[in-house]
Amino acid sequence: MEPNNTAVRYDRIAQWWQNQHQDSSYGLAQLERAIKFTSKRNSALDVGCGSSGRFINVLSNQGFQAEGLDISTEMINLSKQLQPEITFYLEDICCWIPRKFYSLISAWDSTFHLPLNAQEPVMKKLGDALEPDGVILFTCGGGHTKGEISGSFQGQDFDYSTLGVDAFLRILAECHCTCRHLEYDQYPEKHVYIIAQKV
Ligand SMILES: C[S@@+](CC[C@H](N)C(=O)[O-])C[C@H]1O[C@@H](n2cnc3c(N)ncnc32)[C@H](O)[C@@H]1O
Repeated sequence: MEPNNTAVRYDRIAQWWQNQHQDSSYGLAQLERAIKFTSKRNSALDVGCGSSGRFINVLSNQGFQAEGLDISTEMINLSKQLQPEITFYLEDICCWIPRKFYSLISAWDSTFHLPLNAQEPVMKKLGDALEPDGVILFTCGGGHTKGEISGSFQGQDFDYSTLGVDAFLRILAECHCTCRHLEYDQYPEKHVYIIAQKV
């Protein structure tokens, strides 16, 4: 599914997402784990931030200059209402060009929606956007080979793709990032989160 079609679907459930996730701790322990590896707390970017503000809250409270990026207009509108002091980018991560380096980048349950052929360039872009010692946290489909699946969520059809865990680790290594943590955190679901650090 092209990113613009993903955006339309998230527009429709953006308000529901905010109501449902504003007080949710989903992913926050993993974010705290990633933060522990950082040595600097300069800028941080939450890719596919959605509308709950929960990752950005943690990043701001931990001293980062937090920013959010999302392709869904409604997600960004709701985010701006919730956190008017934060910089938000209404962008497709496939096209967005980073203008700075980041101490931490999170992409929690967002880049798994990218078309398969966009996975590698986007992961490289995010890896390259880390400052020395910078940390990336992202989720991906935990198969060992590349693949695409379709599913339904809150009445909307979505597509998901993965390169396979080994390919993500290879791309990270090519960006001079070493894996600090990899976990099948919803096993037996093939949902994986990876923390890697620029060395
Ligand atoms: C499952 S939601 C997760 C939201 C947030 N990370 C959270 O955990 O609350 C996926 C988010 O990724 C965004 N997204 C999907 N594809 C994107 C793309 N190509 N560029 C930027 N954001 C994207 C969606 O609009 C949506 O807000």
